[in-house]
Amino acid sequence: MFRRKFTLWYGNTNVASFNTSFLINIFPQNNTHGEGLAFLIAPTIHIPENIYGQYLGLTNASIDNQTTNVIVAVELDTFKQPFDIDNNHIRLNIHSIRSVVSKPLTLENITLVPDASTPSFHNIWIQYDGVEKIIRVYIAGQPEKTSPTPPMPETPIIQYNLDLRKMVNRDSYIGFATSTGIQTQLNCVLQWNITVEYIVGIQW
Ligand SMILES: *[C@@H]1O[C@H](CO)[C@@H](O)[C@H](O)[C@H]1NC(C)=O
Repeated sequence: MFRRKFTLWYGNTNVASFNTSFLINIFPQNNTHGEGLAFLIAPTIHIPENIYGQYLGLTNASIDNQTTNVIVAVELDTFKQPFDIDNNHIRLNIHSIRSVVSKPLTLENITLVPDASTPSFHNIWIQYDGVEKIIRVYIAGQPEKTSPTPPMPETPIIQYNLDLRKMVNRDSYIGFATSTGIQTQLNCVLQWNITVEYIVGIQW
């Protein structure tokens, strides 16, 4: 996690929007992979206990889906749990490892972890509009680590109405969470950029 909190709104009329992008390489181990990597907005930098495997560093069996978790995550899921659509999807999670939206990536010609031991590089863009209260997520691969960053796709893979003021703490940490399970992978964030803009004088 970035070791400083971000203020996501202040007063009754000022709200943050943010744009963030990051480059990842999720690398298989022994020709298998699991479980995933998530961009995370959370109340603390401390990690709950028992967050391995399907809990992805986010929640655990006793606290999952409690509104007191105050977390929002964009998850890149590389392992199929019984409740998952497949082992190659992107999803939006609120307080829980169960998602409010889940989108398969195979149809988009994206494979987060190739089965052979070859690195793969994917860019993820997350744009939160605090005035419209919409989160948009985009993803695009690039052939090599040092390739130029491809343009952001025109169409988001996830677009969801989200009022962060109702879901997370006003002062929240932002960063990444990840886990391995019975299958393992290397979860690498190679670049990360975030800009936060405050829009003042909003009428809610
Ligand atoms: C999570 O909690 C909400 C209510 O807060 C409920 O509607 C939903 O079914 C729960 N999801 C799961 C997977 O238990």
